[in-house]
Amino acid sequence: MQVFGPVVRLTDIAPSPTTFSANPRDQTPMKIFIDSADLKEIKDAAAMGVIDGVTTNPSLVAKTGKPFEQVIREIVEVVDGPVSAEVIATDYEGIVREGKHLAAIHPNIVVKVPLIAEGIRAVKTFSQEGIRTNVTLCFSAPQALLAAKAGATYISPFIGRIDDVGGDGIELIGQIVQIYNNYGYETEVLAASIRHPVHFVRCAQLGADVGTLPYKVILQLLDHPLTDIGLAKFLEDAKKIPK
Ligand code: E4P
Repeated sequence: MQVFGPVVRLTDIAPSPTTFSANPRDQTPMKIFIDSADLKEIKDAAAMGVIDGVTTNPSLVAKTGKPFEQVIREIVEVVDGPVSAEVIATDYEGIVREGKHLAAIHPNIVVKVPLIAEGIRAVKTFSQEGIRTNVTLCFSAPQALLAAKAGATYISPFIGRIDDVGGDGIELIGQIVQIYNNYGYETEVLAASIRHPVHFVRCAQLGADVGTLPYKVILQLLDHPLTDIGLAKFLEDAKKIPK
């Protein structure tokens, strides 16, 4: 008499929308970008050797008190990786003109474009011309799908800002990773508006390709009181070791 049913392999079980794992499109390690325009923060983070790129936005650049292009030129000298620089124009021609100007500043510049109809049209043009883009201000899965169809290099879903209005930013990351995996889109999921280490860990679990973190959150990733207590004890005990 057969007591048990047929063996069901774990791989036969369809993942639930929020529990599937790493991105089969790209098995390279998750990248960490710093979300900042502050040169000192960027230098300090880069000195740790774990920063793969930089994202900026007009609000972050405004805080520096320096001209936009100067800030971007300084950043590309510090970090050898993708540096997102955002266009201010909101019409197709303006976005394309500004984006081409920014892309010509340095090969590492990624043109950051807002997720609006004119922006998506410009992203298509940029992708046909080999200019890399980061589509920003993404708050929904259909927006992310359109950005991928237009050929975006990165999509930036804003987790914290969704949480701020009572939504679930992490759920959106899961939806986008799943949709991109379903169809093999090469657009990288760049989790943005990350406010604390748990956001970052959840993004890593869900297979986001990149997390962009404020400097404060990068430092928080290192923090653990037991590390501090343990180190203090080791250093104290080390003094008792005979010379
Ligand atoms: C991403 O590219 C944005 O610059 C950023 O992550 C926005 O974060 P905030 O919502 O904390 O301003």
